[in-house]
Amino acid sequence: MNDQELRGKIPMRAGGAAARIAVVPGDGIGKEVTPEAVKVLQAVARQSQRVIEFVEFDWGADKYLREGVSLPAGAVEMLRDQFDAILFGALGDPRVATNQHAADILLGLRFKLDLYVNARPVELLHDRLTPLRDRSTKEIRMMVIRENTEGLYVGVGGCFQKDTAEEIAIQEDVNSRKGVERIIRYAFEYARQNKLKRVCMSDKSNAMTFAHGLWQRVFKHVCEEFSDIESRHLYIDTLAMEMVRDPGQFDVIVTCNLFGDIISDLGAQLAGGLGLAPSGNVHPGRTSLFEPVHGSAPNIAGKGIANPLGSVLAAAMMLDFLGWKQQASALHSGVKAALLKNYVTPDLGGDKKTTQVGDWLVEFVTRRCGG
Ligand SMILES: NC(=O)c1ccc[n+]([C@@H]2O[C@H](COP(=O)([O-])OP(=O)(O)OC[C@H]3O[C@@H](n4cnc5c(N)ncnc54)[C@H](O)[C@@H]3O)[C@@H](O)[C@H]2O)c1
Repeated sequence: MNDQELRGKIPMRAGGAAARIAVVPGDGIGKEVTPEAVKVLQAVARQSQRVIEFVEFDWGADKYLREGVSLPAGAVEMLRDQFDAILFGALGDPRVATNQHAADILLGLRFKLDLYVNARPVELLHDRLTPLRDRSTKEIRMMVIRENTEGLYVGVGGCFQKDTAEEIAIQEDVNSRKGVERIIRYAFEYARQNKLKRVCMSDKSNAMTFAHGLWQRVFKHVCEEFSDIESRHLYIDTLAMEMVRDPGQFDVIVTCNLFGDIISDLGAQLAGGLGLAPSGNVHPGRTSLFEPVHGSAPNIAGKGIANPLGSVLAAAMMLDFLGWKQQASALHSGVKAALLKNYVTPDLGGDKKTTQVGDWLVEFVTRRCGG
């Protein structure tokens, strides 16, 4: 089915036992790990008498180079009106030096669907996977909530006297009261819903006095509504140190777009590396997008050794978002079991291929869900 035909379809929403998912594998290893996640989702749906309709889109570097199209016209409205969620792979291709297609598609969807929450769980699933000495699964378990639609990523700025010795480059950091308030509020609500006790807001308000002064003021105001939750502030440099020194002190961290990008990668390493890290780009109640944290990894693309577990965990987050808690938990348990058995790809010290890990997980969820 092509994009045009799709746009003509009648809007559909998840009616509890059914869901309609847009699949965008993208580039590089995105095309290798996403089919594995789809395979596992199909198995878990089959076993629990649920229906998932997948519709795949070929948006990525090949299409961009062939047709000059990155995110097709009408795509945002189509996704918003006709799909419950989007399962995304990764974008980035050495043939597109500007990475324009990736910016159009991924940032385009984040901004235009107003996916203001970037939820990046940091969860160590097996003790052996952390580079920190004497730390265990009990201590490395936190949620990083990154603001996803503002900050330095909005692309406001410019260059003066470009490519001369006098060049000046300016990039504006955009922070709206509405944007800051809704992400901080989301962090507290997430903590409350998940029975977590502590929220830490991180900024650089000692240097970025205007932009992060706003974060400070809003944080103080929102804290008052959540007196049952312990609130705390750390400057981002201190947070980076503390996450390494004593990760067990954090439950929920909320921060701006740029800092969230960086410290969630730090968190990913604490929990076993990029191949295992999932993320959700969410607007509560609206079509949201789920993806592994990693990129298209051109250095290993085509070799069949990409770790699919980050993508499977992103699929689990998607099921959770759809309210399919039991099925989400089956995927999560499957990943833990694969790690326990060391049935993993070379990045985690194993010798399995991407598809072997996917097949193993299909068998696991089939058994687990009573097949
Ligand atoms: N969300 C996204 O689509 C996204 C995110 C990050 C980077 N990118 C893009 O991806 C391209 C490559 O970027 P990069 O190399 O900086 O980051 P990357 O995440 O693609 O790779 C970093 C390193 O981690 C390894 N790695 C990543 N995922 C892995 C997996 N699933 N299994 C095993 N090893 C894995 C890679 O082999 C590489 O050594 C660039 O074009 C970049 O812009 C896209």
